[in-house]
Amino acid sequence: MPTILLTGGAGYIGSHTAVELMAAGFDVLIYDNFCRSSAKSVDRVARIAGKAPKVVEGDVRDSALLAKTLREHDCSAVLHFAGLKAVGESTEKPLDYFDTNFFGTLRLLQAMQTTAVRTIVFSSSATVYGEPVRLPYTEDHPLFPTNPYGRSKLMAEDALRDLFRAEPDWRIGILRYFNPGGAHPSALIGEDPVGIPNNLMPFVAQVAAGTRPVLNIWGQDYPTADGTGERDYIHVVDLALGHVKALMRLDSPQCSTVNLGTGKAHSVLEVVRGFEAACGHAIPYVIKERRPGDLPSYYADPASAKKWLGWEATRDLQTMCADHWRWQSQNPKGYA
Ligand code: NAD
Ligand code: WQD
Repeated sequence: MPTILLTGGAGYIGSHTAVELMAAGFDVLIYDNFCRSSAKSVDRVARIAGKAPKVVEGDVRDSALLAKTLREHDCSAVLHFAGLKAVGESTEKPLDYFDTNFFGTLRLLQAMQTTAVRTIVFSSSATVYGEPVRLPYTEDHPLFPTNPYGRSKLMAEDALRDLFRAEPDWRIGILRYFNPGGAHPSALIGEDPVGIPNNLMPFVAQVAAGTRPVLNIWGQDYPTADGTGERDYIHVVDLALGHVKALMRLDSPQCSTVNLGTGKAHSVLEVVRGFEAACGHAIPYVIKERRPGDLPSYYADPASAKKWLGWEATRDLQTMCADHWRWQSQNPKGYA
């Protein structure tokens, strides 16, 4: 079977995708500098898959090492997960975000160009849409990201689109993820955030486990059903399966962009209730002011993913909370 190179493959979404790719019969090579992940996730992937993925420790900005790796391992495609993803941090360190997320993508594309590997699946984000003009977000919604993280993703998307215009033999899949949550049902791999989590799911999980005392809910005065923010939470295993489908669908030249979401919005309080049902006790929370830059509500139109990939999310919010909790409770310190 062909070898698929996963940049950032030791991270949260990459590790789950490695498992599903190996289950589908692909050979996997994880290329990661481990700046935001642990090599232990790779051991856990091997335990689930019953076979160890190959690993190369390297930076995505190192095009010479990438080209050498692509060539030596005869890789046929790249899934490009490597990146920095914290919106708040991106406003404090914008250059780091443009360097890793944009410059890193260019360096990878140059390495692929040199080695004639022309199939890539890129991890983009719903953040590229910005303030909703209409909901659900369809892929042709205007793109106005409101923070450096989102802009770094849009710049990488633009580079991919321009590359395809110039060299139409490329096979490019741009996947815009909504809000990932959950973990592999084995509880061997899951999200292991560095420091205080920014995102809701890992934060609630740590409060449920008693690692953090209380959840701050950022605003209960939004024009939503219960006043708290609403998002389209998608199970990480569904997300991983979307990548396997995308890879198989990239069997001819194209540059295709799809949302990976469920099409349903859930509020912060619904996520809290979901975790309470999973862990069996109340989760303490306090209502605080809105977090600057947060949108009231957004969710995906997943129709294009269904049409292009024959894919749709099948795991609901309760499954997501139960799986996330199983990972959190069995690995209270993550991979440490
Ligand atoms: P993660 O932080 O768990 O994984 C990212 C991986 O990239 C880590 O293993 C990290 O060590 C690696 N990495 C970072 N910089 C690198 C570099 N310079 N060279 C090599 N490796 C490097 O994040 P994740 O949640 O798995 O996200 C994966 C991708 O999906 C990212 O590009 C992210 O922007 C995108 N995304 C994530 C979310 C989300 O909420 N999790 C939503 C939309 C898009
Ligand atoms: C979800 C909801 C918060 C934390 C970001 C990026 C997006 C994607 C996912 C990468 C909101 C509320 C949160 C907390 C809370 N990542 N919340 N208390 O902001 O929708 O999206 O992460 O691409 O691009 O923008 O996700 O999980 O931070 O917030 O009340 O402690 O939970 O206000 O309504 P967000 P989130």
